[in-house]
Amino acid sequence: MSHIQIPPGLTELLQGYTVEVLRQQPPDLVDFAVDYFTSLREARSRASTPPAAPPSGSQGLEPGPGLVADAIADSESEDEEDLDVPVPNRFDRRVSVCAETYNPDEEEEDTDPREQLSQVLDAMFERTVKVDEHVIDQGDDGDNFYVIERGTYDILVTKDNQTRSVGQYDNHGSFGELALMYNTPRAATIVATSEGSLWGLDRVTFRRIIVKNNAKKRKMFESFIESVLLLKSLEVSERMKIVDVIGEKVYKDGERIIIQGEKADSFYIIESGEVSILIKSKTKANKDGGNQEVEIARCRKGQYFGELALVTNKPRAASAYAVGDVKCLVMDVQAFERLLGPCMDIMKRNISHYEEQLVKMFGSSMDLIDPGQ
Ligand code: CMP
Ligand code: CMP
Repeated sequence: MSHIQIPPGLTELLQGYTVEVLRQQPPDLVDFAVDYFTSLREARSRASTPPAAPPSGSQGLEPGPGLVADAIADSESEDEEDLDVPVPNRFDRRVSVCAETYNPDEEEEDTDPREQLSQVLDAMFERTVKVDEHVIDQGDDGDNFYVIERGTYDILVTKDNQTRSVGQYDNHGSFGELALMYNTPRAATIVATSEGSLWGLDRVTFRRIIVKNNAKKRKMFESFIESVLLLKSLEVSERMKIVDVIGEKVYKDGERIIIQGEKADSFYIIESGEVSILIKSKTKANKDGGNQEVEIARCRKGQYFGELALVTNKPRAASAYAVGDVKCLVMDVQAFERLLGPCMDIMKRNISHYEEQLVKMFGSSMDLIDPGQ
């Protein structure tokens, strides 16, 4: 076997694909592989990565609530300082005491990829939980990262001796990445509100696969994120955290990105292409009683959509369709709430313009908007 050369990048490529399959459980592995690798190739040409390097990102895939899917797909070796410098943050959390060092240079480059792959799979373990069980306690050191297989979970944050629920996971998503990524104590308590099952990944494996990727992802998306008007008020470190959590999704011409009336779980920033916002209104101006969709806005590169339902906690107020091929950066609701607080005023100001827009088009607003919440 010693004469077989393992091409550089093969291991990471297979690891990324495999973990993504485990996380998303796609019905058709071949279709999923086609989408997955096509997106990686697109990302690579866009980032002008040298051909020998493994491709980046999880483009075209569901963004993982949190960051995993996006990060796990790519783990080319990076400088160590990219890995272990915690990103300074506004909450001034203490640095975790168990920040073991991981040196990518120590990794054996030529290990058989099958071996490495099985190491990752072996490292993932199933954990079943009972109602009221604390999966994570705020303030603890981080041990594992979790992907939800099933069950519902409350996210509780204690601040100034007050504990409040800041969100829920409903049979979908992942959590526990922050303490592992930034070497900080757990930022929230996660409590099971039903019986459930989780896939855990230990800290060392998580860091080996995922944290390395973030430096590269930052390089890929940094300049675009810097150019997004909405995010200008954030500090550089806050923008970098956005890069860490975003996923990228690709849509074909005419594809529906958001469906009016559905429950919302993501926020979108257009990276390329145009998105048409259409609404079914039950106003007089809409003659067929509200079954016809009417275009109310066009969003372009650098603009965002899908914030309204997250801000108001209501169903989607309109539908969004790709006009031509579209690429969006996608962020899950938990990250939206955690990271975009400083941009809330700007979003609310823009939301108040929706009202005017609807009045102008339909003669009345549709009580879909409540920026005061
Ligand atoms: P970690 O800090 O490792 O452990 C608690 C996890 O809760 C955290 O990672 C995130 O994955 C998740 N979480 C979800 N929403 C929030 C929030 N608003 N603030 C902090 N953590 C959150
Ligand atoms: P959301 O309700 O989450 O999903 C549909 C999105 O369309 C909405 O968020 C806004 O981002 C966007 N949108 C653009 N213009 C309007 C408008 N006039 N009224 C409602 N939503 C709009």
